[in-house]
Amino acid sequence: MEKPRASAAPSPKQPPQAVLFDAYGTLFDVYSVGLVAEQLFPGQGQALGQLWRDKQIEYTRLVTTSNHGAHYQPFWQLTQAALRYACKRLKLELTAEAELKLMNQYRHLSAFPENRDVLQALKSRGITTGILSNGDPEMLGIAVRSAGLEGLLDHVISVDRVRKYKTHPEAYALGEQVTGLRAAQIVFVSSNSWDALAATWYGFQTLWVNRYGLPFEELGTQPVRTGATLNDVLGFFPAE
Ligand code: LAC
Repeated sequence: MEKPRASAAPSPKQPPQAVLFDAYGTLFDVYSVGLVAEQLFPGQGQALGQLWRDKQIEYTRLVTTSNHGAHYQPFWQLTQAALRYACKRLKLELTAEAELKLMNQYRHLSAFPENRDVLQALKSRGITTGILSNGDPEMLGIAVRSAGLEGLLDHVISVDRVRKYKTHPEAYALGEQVTGLRAAQIVFVSSNSWDALAATWYGFQTLWVNRYGLPFEELGTQPVRTGATLNDVLGFFPAE
């Protein structure tokens, strides 16, 4: 007969000590800009929101991988360039006023509803919390303040410090440098599958927040966990 397993056997793995979150799409709802886009360009809001986001990420990779980073521009500028491109591509006339409206909306994105409670639950367990984002410091500061999350985040880390965007390893290394922890002691949370994948490759424990029921990347590595909302990050921490 098989020996019964001790149900409360201690886990050989130490629980993580910090949680770092991606910002755009993970803590802040990027697609809410689609609503403003829809008001400005009826019938095209969703397409514009999607193309804008895709182009913004493409530009981060372009400037990080080309010519030893000589063409780096802060995320705000890449976001504006991506908006201009997306409008041209969709043949939408982007007036100065419309651009201002859309870019302002990008500054004041809505936060996902569960954020506060999850951050509070992590803090009450003594876990270090932070953002590790492509966003530049000013954008992140405004987003954090307008979502009322200031007191709940120990670190707001922008890749602007190394002028290299995720998924460059120097960008992820900032998470270790700022917290003083090793990647394996940190949970990295992203709703962007490419970011969750690269963070897993880097060595973080990872949660992919799959809010929209999308497939994960097909490159042979899975995130440590997959969830539907930020609440699933609490699964990394044993109940009190
Ligand atoms: C960020 C983008 C990738 O916040 O969502 O870094």
